[in-house]
Amino acid sequence: MSEEIRIRRCESLEDFRLCLHLQREIWGEDDLEVEPVTMFVVAAHIGGQVLGAFDGSQMIGYTLALPGIRNGQPYLHSHMTGIAASHRDRGAGRALKLFQREEALGRGIRLIEWTFDPLELRNAHFNLNRLGAICRTYLPNLYGVTTSPLHRNLPTDRLVAEWHLDSPRVIAILSGAVPEPVDAPAAISFPAALEEWKKNNPEELARQQARARSEFESWFARGYAAIATRTTPAGAGYLLAPWSDF
Ligand SMILES: CC(C)(COP(=O)(O)OP(=O)(O)OC[C@H]1O[C@@H](n2cnc3c(N)ncnc32)[C@H](O)[C@@H]1OP(=O)(O)O)[C@@H](O)C(=O)NCCC(=O)NCCS
Repeated sequence: MSEEIRIRRCESLEDFRLCLHLQREIWGEDDLEVEPVTMFVVAAHIGGQVLGAFDGSQMIGYTLALPGIRNGQPYLHSHMTGIAASHRDRGAGRALKLFQREEALGRGIRLIEWTFDPLELRNAHFNLNRLGAICRTYLPNLYGVTTSPLHRNLPTDRLVAEWHLDSPRVIAILSGAVPEPVDAPAAISFPAALEEWKKNNPEELARQQARARSEFESWFARGYAAIATRTTPAGAGYLLAPWSDF
């Protein structure tokens, strides 16, 4: 990571306003779909996380997470993580996630979840291969069709990333251990043309989304989880394996 990028908690209204400013820049949504400053205030107040990434005094990224409870256990739902386009690919996103993990573990929280678009294979690679998250839940059209150009007017289908912060898998991956060759009996693949179709073929993109949706739902119903992504000259895809709880 670039040395001048620092991560810290956001606590002041001024910080939250900077988050809002970045949100508009990164997601470009209509006003009604923007998380307002009050949401950042609430998240920070009720045991969620508002974390900022700073280049000197300039905020260049943030994470907003809300506390959740499931089966009597606390967890965090990480609703947004964004880095300004000018500062991507320099490790700031990773630094935010690592800080987020430490902060959560420091409070006894062992699970962070977030959702992501299954067609964003680079993001999936980050989530599964680099952070060690797994996915076994598919949420079709979670937010409805939004105004964000990042969402391309498609149904907002999302995979749920589960990041079990102190699991042996996550600890091994974060410590840089080369993962064992994945014993994955199943795959969900996309042709290399997917990235082009995102720009110029909305019909084909919608077909790919619908196909992937039915494949994910069918594997997840059989107890499989997506545990890695793989890229080949022919395209990219997810590897799946049977999964039991931590
Ligand atoms: C996704 C995002 C936060 C990554 O931040 P970043 O600072 O560029 O990421 P890093 O430099 O720390 O890279 C870590 C990994 O993220 C992945 N990554 C990098 N740029 C990415 C991008 N534009 N989109 C998706 N994933 C990306 C890479 O796989 C990288 O791993 P690698 O080094 O093995 O290739 C950033 O691209 C972003 O803000 N995107 C727009 C908003 C968004 O989609 N957020 C996620 C859903 S809420």
